[in-house]
Amino acid sequence: MTIQLERSSRTDDPLTLIGRRTPGYSLEAPFYTSREIFDLDVTAIFSEHWLFVAAGAEVSEPGDFVTVDVGPYSVVVVRDDDEEIRAFHNVCRHRGSRILDEDRGSVGNLVCPYHHWTYNVDGRLLHADNQPATFDRSRFGLKPVHVREVAGCVFICLADEPPADFEDVAARIGTYLAPYELARTKVAHQVDIVEAGNWKLVMENNRECYHCDGHPELISAYFPLHGYTAEDVPPRLHRVWERYEKASADLQASCLRQGLPVEGMRELDNRPTGFMVTHAPLDGAGKSYTAGGESVCRKRLGSIADDRFGDLHLHLQPNSWFHMLSDHAVMFSVLPLAPDKSFLRTTWLVHADAVEGVDYDVPTLTAVWSATNAQDSAFVTRTQRGVEDPGYQPGPYSQVEGDVDAFVNWYVARVDAHLSR
Ligand code: FES
Ligand SMILES: [Fe+2]
Repeated sequence: MTIQLERSSRTDDPLTLIGRRTPGYSLEAPFYTSREIFDLDVTAIFSEHWLFVAAGAEVSEPGDFVTVDVGPYSVVVVRDDDEEIRAFHNVCRHRGSRILDEDRGSVGNLVCPYHHWTYNVDGRLLHADNQPATFDRSRFGLKPVHVREVAGCVFICLADEPPADFEDVAARIGTYLAPYELARTKVAHQVDIVEAGNWKLVMENNRECYHCDGHPELISAYFPLHGYTAEDVPPRLHRVWERYEKASADLQASCLRQGLPVEGMRELDNRPTGFMVTHAPLDGAGKSYTAGGESVCRKRLGSIADDRFGDLHLHLQPNSWFHMLSDHAVMFSVLPLAPDKSFLRTTWLVHADAVEGVDYDVPTLTAVWSATNAQDSAFVTRTQRGVEDPGYQPGPYSQVEGDVDAFVNWYVARVDAHLSR
């Protein structure tokens, strides 16, 4: 028998590919494999939108910095002496040397290793040897990058004029995040993974739970009802559904008692800063990410009044997702490395006063998402291999992949807007 493969077009022209895209279907192969479209993504998406890059707790003291690589850019995020977050291009204003090589640390000033031009952590050039009397230091400060700290989460934007809707999004997500007081947390653990897949495959994989039977550790914390509604839940799950309804009612009552929003928000693909917030109860003890739902840290975050406070789940386009629980938070930032390679940083935060070995231990705290990340990484790897195969053609999203569809719709609209300018 001869199997006739319907081959995807090999054109890499993104406008042509966008023009013939079938709504509700995955993207054509070049969006995941082509160097040209990867470079376009760096320009149209990562250089023009707000990116989540760090927890504020990573740079909690003046002089603390992290460096972030976004495509060809290196950016320094640093806490200045007034405890404000700043971001600069990691490029010396003398002859362009990279200034900081480390991915994190603490400095008094930022000193270029080449000829020792010295910058304040607010970016001002303080010192440059052997200059004429006419040398005007004020003209050679570090080039700033837009930066915002939103409720303990640090975002940068490389554009000259960042999307203005971020202010609205920041205010609205800030309402949900405020009670967790992430600025009063510390990093309990952080892991960097290089995923063998295009950054969009990493994001698409995150945006659905259609594959969640591949995450036994993660789904054990949730009610096993994914995809069901009250109308179609099968008889074998009626008792689970009742348990879920009770936990949902308890969570809503807790939110109301604490003066916090009950309803989520979903504006994933109709704005430059697409986002979604949902707040869902957890199964079992309902407190945190463990098989029985018990807490993994004895100190609750911020002003959260209940141990049983479910999972506040935040998605932001293009590159991040977050889970906030009563006892810890987990944050995920994805950055593109190559058409078939992506950087995923996972950061676990606990209350600043929580003591390792007393209030929490890292293996227990990180068990669920360490396993989940490894499983997701394998899914991304196998999908990248598939989309590189000439036999790949776009396939249809299921009824429970609406957020993948929204991510891809957002992406296509942003690329289209960029190319149409
Ligand atoms: S390139 Fe930085 S001091 Fe010369
Ligand atoms: Fe997953």
